[in-house]
Amino acid sequence: MSAEVFERLRALIHQHSRIHLTPNKLNMLSSRLGKRRRELGLQSWDEYLAWLTQQGPDELDTLIDLVATNHTHFFREAIQFEILQAELLGPLLTRSPTAKRGLRCWSAGCSSGEEVFTLAIVLAEYAQGHQADLRWQIEGTDISHRALHTARQAIYEMDRLNLPQAGLLERYFQQGSGPYEGFCKVKPELLDKVHFHRLNLFGPLNQIPQPQHVVFCRNVMIYFEPASQTQLVQRLHDTLEPGGYLVAGHSDSLLRIKHPLLSLGNGIYQRPVLA
Ligand SMILES: C[S@@+](CC[C@H](N)C(=O)[O-])C[C@H]1O[C@@H](n2cnc3c(N)ncnc32)[C@H](O)[C@@H]1O
Repeated sequence: MSAEVFERLRALIHQHSRIHLTPNKLNMLSSRLGKRRRELGLQSWDEYLAWLTQQGPDELDTLIDLVATNHTHFFREAIQFEILQAELLGPLLTRSPTAKRGLRCWSAGCSSGEEVFTLAIVLAEYAQGHQADLRWQIEGTDISHRALHTARQAIYEMDRLNLPQAGLLERYFQQGSGPYEGFCKVKPELLDKVHFHRLNLFGPLNQIPQPQHVVFCRNVMIYFEPASQTQLVQRLHDTLEPGGYLVAGHSDSLLRIKHPLLSLGNGIYQRPVLA
């Protein structure tokens, strides 16, 4: 792949997703897209660029699927779930009438669903321990069709669940047998409260019910340059109820950008009540 082709692809990727590829990603892009180009039977990168232009949004979506890094796992950065359960949910439910009627959570950039189902387990555990009638729902959104397909299936390898407590596996997963030996599926009582949608974080957010009480956007902002990060944090802030929480990844430092949120530590932020 020449530097010129790389630049054109980089611009298309940025335009479609805001994912910012630094110049040292040329080899990565070439190897991830080379397979797709061969599948399509295209001989050169110029043919691939022409194909992308002719095919429009669907092929661009495939391009973004190939470029996006979907790495995730259950109970990633577990301390944030512990703080949510032990310190944040109680006060939120006490002070917010809307949260009491139905807690709304959003995993923005949910990849293959592990973050959504971790949050679902934490809320279900909280309800069991504190408030049996807690009503909640979670929206999981991502730009990647491929990741969302896995999320909607809700089937995971048992060896990779790495759940922090004995008992969670039995309570929240059905264990597979036959061809599904070694896999498990999230139980319907959690699935019923979870919705997955395809959503570009820089496009319209009208699929997201508002106001939100807890928004997770972790390990997503690192793919954007500071101007896009600033815009995204403002958008996430605007979806939150005053007093609601934004949970960012430990690597998504908000230190370098201007934003209106209060930092509570451990990558957790709060929309000020009076702003
Ligand atoms: C590394 S995963 C993070 C998954 C999960 N939040 C976690 O922390 O484990 C980053 C996700 O961001 C998604 N993403 C990247 N750009 C996006 C955009 N513009 N809109 C929505 N999702 C995007 C990618 O498809 C990918 O699934």
